[in-house]
Amino acid sequence: MASKTFYIETFGCQMNVHDSEKVAGALLQRGYARVEAPDAADLVFYNTCSIRDKAEQKVFQRLQQFKRGANGKVFAVLGCVAQQEGEKIFERAPHVSLVAGSASYARLPELLARIEAGERRVTGLSLDTDETFETPLTRRDHPHRAYLTIIEGCDKSCAYCVVPFTRGPERSRASASILQEARELAEQGYTEIQLLGQNVNSYRDPSPAGWNFAQLLRQVARVPGIRRVRFTTSHPRDFGRDIVEAIDENPVLCNHVHLPVQSGSSLVLARMQRLYTREEYLRRIEWLKQSPRQIAISTDIIVGFPGETEEDFQDTLRLLDQVEYDSIFSFKYSPRPNTAALALGDAVPDEEKQRRLLMVQEKQRAIQIRRHAALIGSVAEVLVEGRNQALGQWIGRTAQHRILNFTHPDKSASLLGAYLPVLVTRSGPNSLVGEAVTGAVV
Ligand code: 5AD
Ligand code: SF4
Repeated sequence: MASKTFYIETFGCQMNVHDSEKVAGALLQRGYARVEAPDAADLVFYNTCSIRDKAEQKVFQRLQQFKRGANGKVFAVLGCVAQQEGEKIFERAPHVSLVAGSASYARLPELLARIEAGERRVTGLSLDTDETFETPLTRRDHPHRAYLTIIEGCDKSCAYCVVPFTRGPERSRASASILQEARELAEQGYTEIQLLGQNVNSYRDPSPAGWNFAQLLRQVARVPGIRRVRFTTSHPRDFGRDIVEAIDENPVLCNHVHLPVQSGSSLVLARMQRLYTREEYLRRIEWLKQSPRQIAISTDIIVGFPGETEEDFQDTLRLLDQVEYDSIFSFKYSPRPNTAALALGDAVPDEEKQRRLLMVQEKQRAIQIRRHAALIGSVAEVLVEGRNQALGQWIGRTAQHRILNFTHPDKSASLLGAYLPVLVTRSGPNSLVGEAVTGAVV
């Protein structure tokens, strides 16, 4: 008999993408084969995100689409919408058989076995697991860069955020297990590792070594064969100067830090329960800017949080001018179930949120155009991540996490996965263009 097949579709952040890689690993281990279309699958997994309402609405639309021509298939809903909505999903989408949140994936083999035994409705919704989800067969989607989980869950209580409810309390993974996986990745040929967690800065090694995040970073940077280490996401409250010092001392640690600010107004930050003021945030930016390694800085911004006045919003625009971020992600505030901000209502009308969002994005675009233009004439090392056949260009990524597309005089060269110096010759708001500095594959 042909083996059973599965299809997995993913929405949301890197944690979700990586969770799907692990789920795929667990399924492959059980003898399932992966297919790239839901129609061809016996088991359809849908890994969901509920960070904003729009993402959540998509889930039920997509589940309806899956349903067409679905006879005999098993449908599973995973991720943050699964955790948040729980058994209600069975009511809205009766064709679903499995609903499980990320804190329960360690139990996935058991849940799958129950499905295979014919159980019609199975849930994994407990948030009190101590286990982290590790699978020896984790299948990375990217050939050179690998995600590696160091901490799961979140103990903060930002007033707008569902994550503490959907991913449960913080659980740090033992350092020996992290280093073991990093070594295995290097042996498999990965050269870049991205350490993942909702708040990596609060990492605390549960084993006797007791390392904090900066200590862990230094150790991962030492793994032979690993040329780049990144990490996401940081929380400004827990972001210590020792992290900047570790980056200063280790060229393997990429000179890029994502430090979500959310708002430039201390009043809004207090209502968001972010646990830092604008001034405290800017102190961390100063540490980063003083680094000799020219650390690129990116951030997340929410506009239209309840009670955000025009003056508060202007504080956010001024912060963008002051920090001059290398890139930002910006969002309109979206009220979420269970969160503290629900009690504050949703006072800023959508048109006004939209206006503020566009103003943030316009300002940032001008900043990026200016900053990118200043890079023309410089040389940066890229990891070659892809090829754009139509443009005859390779797609490179710098340590600062910029896209640098480039040409290479040797048209037959196979450059995927190589590290190359590239001269920047042109710039745009979102990427750079350049030419490989040849004769020097490093
Ligand atoms: N509404 C809008 N944006 C949100 N984010 C998190 N929760 C919300 C929400 N309710 C944004 C934050 C976070 C990023 C991942 O998503 O900026 O850093
Ligand atoms: Fe979406 Fe947040 Fe869940 Fe990631 S942790 S999938 S961003 S809700």
